[in-house]
Amino acid sequence: MKLINKKNKQYAQVFKLFTEEAWTLNYKNFNKNISLLFSGKKHEIFIETSEETITYYIGLGKETSQNFEFQQTGIKFSQTHKKNIQTVATLLIADFIHENQFEEFAKGLLLGTYNYPFDKTHPFWDESFELHFGNLSPKKLETISTKIDAICEGQTACMDWLNKPANLKRPEAINAYLKNLAKKNQLKYTAFNRKKCEELGLGAFLSVNQGSAYDAAFTILEYKTTVKNAKTFGLVGKCVLFDTGGISLKASDNMHYMKSDMGGATAVIGALIYASQMKLPVNITAILPITDNAISENAYLPSDVITAYNGKTIEVLNTDAEGRMTLADGLSYLSKNYKTDVLIDLATLTGSSVRMFGDTCGAMFSNNEDLKNILIKTGDKTNQRLWNLPLWDIWMDDFKSDVADFKNISMKPIGDCIVAAKFLEQFIGNHPNWAHLDIAGVAFGNVGYAKEKAATGFGVQLLADLIENYH
Ligand code: BES
Ligand code: ZN
Ligand code: ZN
Repeated sequence: MKLINKKNKQYAQVFKLFTEEAWTLNYKNFNKNISLLFSGKKHEIFIETSEETITYYIGLGKETSQNFEFQQTGIKFSQTHKKNIQTVATLLIADFIHENQFEEFAKGLLLGTYNYPFDKTHPFWDESFELHFGNLSPKKLETISTKIDAICEGQTACMDWLNKPANLKRPEAINAYLKNLAKKNQLKYTAFNRKKCEELGLGAFLSVNQGSAYDAAFTILEYKTTVKNAKTFGLVGKCVLFDTGGISLKASDNMHYMKSDMGGATAVIGALIYASQMKLPVNITAILPITDNAISENAYLPSDVITAYNGKTIEVLNTDAEGRMTLADGLSYLSKNYKTDVLIDLATLTGSSVRMFGDTCGAMFSNNEDLKNILIKTGDKTNQRLWNLPLWDIWMDDFKSDVADFKNISMKPIGDCIVAAKFLEQFIGNHPNWAHLDIAGVAFGNVGYAKEKAATGFGVQLLADLIENYH
């Protein structure tokens, strides 16, 4: 998609966008027939055809709609009408929207073409598809174009990896992808295999990997700006490629959904793609402790006591609480070896957070008031919402062990997402600006492009916006 500042010739295809107010004030009376069928409400579409032109009237809803709603409108329009879209210069008429709203709508057009497996053959992705919008300067349009390309690239990569079936995302496959991505985007790529992890003492991560048929891949991606005094972000994404539960085996009914247990990692990958393509003036170190949680003769056992990277011992009482094991070492390794201003981990960590919030928001935990507020604001802005939950010390009582420093679960059937967060806090090396986002309920769910549950892309726009605007 090319955004071009033009508005002067005959078009075979026209998108006319209206808010309800714009329609009522300026068009309704001159288009009485259309008004019987169209009023500018959100997601409303009216199609008018003539010999030369096909015109789509697209309802944007209220003028006061939030920016993300314009993206939703773009997505919905794209999903329902993408089959009819032609690769011809298209005029977009929307006299009443401002640049951010336009950006969101155009982003939506691209994101709405997503399906699995993704191929970018849709006209919207083609350079020869020109969207002519006379309201903004060529320079402004170019900035917007770069931005939407970067975010859509990141989000579609995120969704594609999450949607892949387990047999197509073995550690080797994803690491080949990451290595290639690093080369393309000038990232530093490091991956530690099982042997190297043993040498380094990444015992909590390895305990999960020891039951796997596949070698461990504790993977680090680094993006560096040349700008001096830039902020530095540490990101850790849970990357359990498939979670069987291990010896504490999960029930089989919904087990196929556990291909989505890498939703934290895919959000991080998407944000990293955005930051590097945009050449944002920031530094990012991302850690993805990649493994599956398999059941096998070598699998770790309930009662095992292991030593984590930071020297703390953990009594494994449930092998299905594997995410906190892998993240514990991811967080300790990052905080010990890298100096970061912000430390954030994302994980499809607990069923508890799903039961609490469903698909309405992620559960957030943070030891920093400012970071908490920024994350909530960014979540509201991007419609990838977060709700804050406590990290009170009293929750530590629930995972004290008789034989180790900690147990990996609480024995009480309450507040497991809080227990898990409090557990993770023991591994951040006293980092003063940390947040943990439990996105189990929002990373994978009902979507407009698939019949079954599928990847939502949650976290990419949230992290991208946070990283871009954090001061
Ligand atoms: N990957 C799951 C959490 C999950 C549940 C993600 C539902 C997405 C949807 C995690 O590893 C897990 O199994 N957690 C257990 C922990 C329990 C054993 C303490 C859970 O939440 O049931
Ligand atoms: Zn699990
Ligand atoms: Zn898991």
